[in-house]
Amino acid sequence: MKKRVLFVCLGNICRSPSAEAVFNNIIKAKGVDGQYMVDSAGTSGWHVGEPADARMQSHARKRGVKLTSISRKFQPEIDFDEFDYIIGMDDSNISNLKSMARNGNAISKIYKMTDFCKKYSYDEVPDPYYGGDSGFELVLDLLEDACEGFLEAVEKEG
Ligand code: 4NP
Repeated sequence: MKKRVLFVCLGNICRSPSAEAVFNNIIKAKGVDGQYMVDSAGTSGWHVGEPADARMQSHARKRGVKLTSISRKFQPEIDFDEFDYIIGMDDSNISNLKSMARNGNAISKIYKMTDFCKKYSYDEVPDPYYGGDSGFELVLDLLEDACEGFLEAVEKEG
């Protein structure tokens, strides 16, 4: 059975599409991509149908991370069943996800991205949308660290 991973942020145009692409790069490099199904979604739906933010794309591209996903809204009725790991980027994403969960099984699938960081001690992946270049770089730094840590944690589970 494939492990099904859904990254979630507010708009699904900056952080979660980047998390999806960073994680896809890591599992490809390690040769385990066939064991995973990876997607991303936003809690808001404000940017549904749009590609990732151009600033986020350009920062990611400089690190060899190609953002291809198109924004979609998180669908509680479907996504809590379809995915094993639902990973929010900040505390607001986590509380929104928890408020949409209908049972303990759904709640138990919700994780916070920064809990998997190994090098960085941030407790959220900060929203870069209204900030400058350094915010986009920080998003990528945190995601590279956390995606490595997440893969390690999942592989340890077996
Ligand atoms: P994301 O960033 O949640 O990382 O995709 C944002 C994108 C758009 C907005 C906020 C955050 N917005 O306010 O439209």
